[in-house]
Amino acid sequence: MNVIENYPLIKLNTFGIDVKAKYFTSINTVNELIEIKKSEKFKDHELLILGGGSNILFTKDFNGLVILNNIKGKEIVDQNDDSIILKIGAGENWHELVMYCVDNGWGGIENLSLIPGNTGTAPMQNIGAYGVEIKETFVELEALEISSGKIVKFSNSECEFGYRESVFKNKMKNKYIILNITLELNKNPILNINYGDVKAILETKKIETPTIKDVSNAIISIRQRKLPDPKKIGNSGSFFKNPIIDINLLKLIEGKYPNVVSYKINENKFKIAAGWMIEKAGWKGKKFNNFGVHENQALVLVNYGLANGKEIFNLSEKIILDIKEKFGITLEREVNII
Ligand code: EPU
Repeated sequence: MNVIENYPLIKLNTFGIDVKAKYFTSINTVNELIEIKKSEKFKDHELLILGGGSNILFTKDFNGLVILNNIKGKEIVDQNDDSIILKIGAGENWHELVMYCVDNGWGGIENLSLIPGNTGTAPMQNIGAYGVEIKETFVELEALEISSGKIVKFSNSECEFGYRESVFKNKMKNKYIILNITLELNKNPILNINYGDVKAILETKKIETPTIKDVSNAIISIRQRKLPDPKKIGNSGSFFKNPIIDINLLKLIEGKYPNVVSYKINENKFKIAAGWMIEKAGWKGKKFNNFGVHENQALVLVNYGLANGKEIFNLSEKIILDIKEKFGITLEREVNII
């Protein structure tokens, strides 16, 4: 076990925030993880498990032990003519997994192309994009229970997936370390191309019977157009969730803004585009020193240089207050704040 003190985390979070971990180690196997958990020195320290670091904003140094989950591996558990069941180590890069599946013609996660982060953290917030969420292909995961050191399985229903939600962000928060996940992919993929932007790209390219590779390429080009590449500009994707509101509030907003962007969930509930509200409130493209609101997607806060996490957090507070004042809606952060 190689534990380093005062370890810089700047390269391990996609926001590119320059903070340090009091202790840091990287684990490649479950046994290494169990060994650390047993060690006297670290048993009372606060623990932070990092995957791809793509959904986290550090506002200060971390005064405990950061463990980089680097457990790799892809294993075909079962397959037949229709589907394939794949078990993937938590430390595998998510987009590389998507490319592996697309190249093999296994459908189900192609709409989730180019999402930053690792496979093990994908179920924590039920990653989703362009009409698809991971819960649709998810079978189960294995996780280490921190208190007992036991390996426990969570089925799809036990993960309690919701919109950017799972049991691991709620009642099981900080209680488990995800070791691997199992997905069921389709060998005769049913494509989901209903999302406006995806349809438009396929039409422009005159692709009438798209393959999963075509869908993946379309998604990659939309993301590259709208979302900043974390390797160039620090960010964590959508900073806020799209709020779910009552029809009466939506009608009130429609009275003032007839072009409001919303999606029906049921007769009474609608999801409203937070990016649209933040743009309407005048924040889109705003730059303050070396941080701001992205110019192509107002839901994304960005670090242009060496901004510190507190500044970005304070900006998010101001946006929340302003949206509350202008639309009567309290935005909720999607990103984990440390
Ligand atoms: N919009 C604006 N102004 C903006 C941004 C968006 O008017 O600055 C409008 C768009 O014109 C569009 C609507 O809002 O009509 C929705 O925008 P977009 O398609 O970009 O998606 P989003 O709702 O802002 C969500 C996810 C993204 C995901 C996309 C595509 C959340 C919090 N975010 O964003 O996920 O890629 O849909 O499915 O649900 C992420 O979670 O990190 C993420 C990037």
